Amino acid sequence: MSGATGTNAAPHDEQVWHGWLTGNSSLLEEINASVRFDHRLARHDIDGSIAHARMLAARRVITEQEADAIVAGLELVREEIRTGAFTFDPALEDVHMNVEARLRTLIGPVAGRLHTARSRNDQVAVDTRMWVRDAIDRLDALLARLITVIAVRAEAHHGDVMPGFTHLQCAQPVTIGHHLLAYGEMLLRDRDRLRSARRRLDESPLGAAALAGTVHPVDPEDTARRLGFGRVFRNSLDAVSDRDFILDYLSAGATLAVHLSRLGEELVIWSTPQFGFIELPEHLCAGSSIMPQKRNPDLPELMRAKSGRVFGDLMALLTVMKGLPLAYSRDMQEDKEALFDAADTLEVSVRAAEAMLRGITFRTRKTRADAALGNAVATDLADWLVADRSLPFREAHTVVAGLVKWLGVQGKELKDAAPGDLAGFDERFATLPAEVLTVEHAVTRRNSPGGTAPALVREAAAELHRRNTETD
Ligand code: ARG
Repeated sequence: MSGATGTNAAPHDEQVWHGWLTGNSSLLEEINASVRFDHRLARHDIDGSIAHARMLAARRVITEQEADAIVAGLELVREEIRTGAFTFDPALEDVHMNVEARLRTLIGPVAGRLHTARSRNDQVAVDTRMWVRDAIDRLDALLARLITVIAVRAEAHHGDVMPGFTHLQCAQPVTIGHHLLAYGEMLLRDRDRLRSARRRLDESPLGAAALAGTVHPVDPEDTARRLGFGRVFRNSLDAVSDRDFILDYLSAGATLAVHLSRLGEELVIWSTPQFGFIELPEHLCAGSSIMPQKRNPDLPELMRAKSGRVFGDLMALLTVMKGLPLAYSRDMQEDKEALFDAADTLEVSVRAAEAMLRGITFRTRKTRADAALGNAVATDLADWLVADRSLPFREAHTVVAGLVKWLGVQGKELKDAAPGDLAGFDERFATLPAEVLTVEHAVTRRNSPGGTAPALVREAAAELHRRNTETD
């Protein structure tokens, strides 16, 4: 970004509303100018203008020669922006005016024909839709890569046992693969939410003009087609005045951020010596300026924390929109910083998650040992009483609860007990096979649909990969 004076800065008398507004206020510029951030729409703004100019020529609102001059000029502006030669000027408010002013400098007064049958209201609406469409595609592609890594790592650890928790208390053993695949499911749904947001935004608002349509014979179908939109707006007021397509993206993003945050939290706790489930990749760890031994999980901590920004961005835009009368109000300009911030945040967070999941090492001896802590096979014992001794489950539950208490008084857990010890507590355990007390047995037997049994996890990993790569 540059200062107020640039090569394309139009003198005041060239401003678009020349003849109507006079005077200049630096306060107005400070609060009103958006080019500092909306320059990120430049490419889409130029695409939208080219489509509009071609449509105007096709409908004979302007001549082919005029359209050719406009398009050639816009391509020059695009090139200047691409190479960094372009200077955005806050005195020209926003990206739309900056591009148009430069076009005028380059090709002269014919540039003024471009804005026939168009307002900045439908211009910004179409630009932002195209920007969000690209942001969705980028995020979706990053998510697909992350899910691929999850499927690969889940397959590799389909048989490695770890503790499964509820309330963060040892509950029942699961496999590492199964735990990872849970995130795969969440993230596949995130992809689905993004794609459904994309389907809804696939509607061009160009041709709505300021709010009411236009007296010129525009062809919104034509501009929509040129810009790759599947549909055209049906109501000009709606076309320029809703930002629900951004809210859709932000809310899908907020849910994704929740998932990444939970994953980040698990990586943080798993990497502590107390858990010791994983080794973090050294190149993704940060050190401490005072404690020489430290290897801090800053990256997963930030995966956890960045969610706050995305929630804030969603909340900001909901709040901006909630009381606005139809149609456009300048309030809507506040959509962009939230949108850009959320997109940047989500993209870096997904990339961070991918790098982490690629880089961590599971300490499978430790996870297996911890899986047996906290009487984690208690349910298996109760289930054995049900299946082999025909007890009603409620009764079996009471028997095992008593057993666990009885062992606890002796400072023992189920993992320390032999079937003989159990028979001392209740003779119905006399025929208990020793394997029922093992965590391997616990996971292998949980082969109900969607369960943690290694064979199922292996299939589920392959299935996740297939679902992730299938095109809709
Ligand atoms: N920069 C403005 C925005 O982002 C463009 C639309 C301005 N329209 C207007 N009528 N002032 O919302």
